[in-house]
Amino acid sequence: MTSTLLDPVAQKAARLVTASERLSFDPMTEIDWTQDIGDTHLHLPAEYLPLYGTPQWDAMTEQERFAYSRHECAALCGAGIWFENILMQLVLRHLYDLPADDPTHRYLLVETADECRHSTMFGEYIRRAGTPAYRPGLRLRLLGKVFLRVANKATGYAGILAAEELLDASNRATMKDPAVHPVSRDMARIHVAEEARHVSFAKTWLAERWSTLSRVDRGIAMVLTPLVAFGIVDSIIDPQVAKAVGIKGGTGAARRNPHQKARVKTDLRKLTGFLTEVGVINRATQPIWRGLGLMA
Ligand SMILES: [Fe+2]
Ligand SMILES: [Fe+2]
Repeated sequence: MTSTLLDPVAQKAARLVTASERLSFDPMTEIDWTQDIGDTHLHLPAEYLPLYGTPQWDAMTEQERFAYSRHECAALCGAGIWFENILMQLVLRHLYDLPADDPTHRYLLVETADECRHSTMFGEYIRRAGTPAYRPGLRLRLLGKVFLRVANKATGYAGILAAEELLDASNRATMKDPAVHPVSRDMARIHVAEEARHVSFAKTWLAERWSTLSRVDRGIAMVLTPLVAFGIVDSIIDPQVAKAVGIKGGTGAARRNPHQKARVKTDLRKLTGFLTEVGVINRATQPIWRGLGLMA
């Protein structure tokens, strides 16, 4: 037990459990769900909408922008539920290997419980937003299953970090933007507070365990992580949104949008910097990240 307590991963896990006792939210009571999720506000900050800055965006009236943002927010919630499901499976797989007296055992249960509440919150938004129940298409859903088959722990934690760093940037902008609907701002505030511990744990695990992994495990993580990050970026633009809202050429415009591409690289900067320090990104794998538009 003493040696477990000296392990930095176990120490971090124990600190994060204590933090979770101080700061955890039940979104079903924390958010006032009696508020109408209607088109009185933007539902995400303008600069975080995939069509922001395109001719399609310029052509929209204010009301149309509000409605479009409601659909984008519901689609982002749908992508969040998809990714959190994958993430919980990875976390539970790690948990399976641990004895109950390891502090990481308790921490991983906290992380799973956090994600259960987040997915409940995203589902509640979708049910109330009056949009289709968006979720990633069949191709991404199948790739998610393949990923779960081949991912090792290092790929899992790097993938968790990729999703959480990317969404953290959008959540931080959302919670601070007074032009955004209060329900979206509340969801973002809850998510930022609780995801901070998941990011902190994934970073500690990767930094501490990377050098102890086999060459094969490191190789798998080095090749798979940029593909996972690309899948997450791809899931943010849901072709069903443009169809449902009736925006001609919307999906193509969002995919080509230079503003959106630049933002993804900026929002991933913290992640790519950290993964370069650890060694997940190196001279051999950096071209994959650049080629997929994930880093400058
Ligand atoms: Fe979450
Ligand atoms: Fe998380």
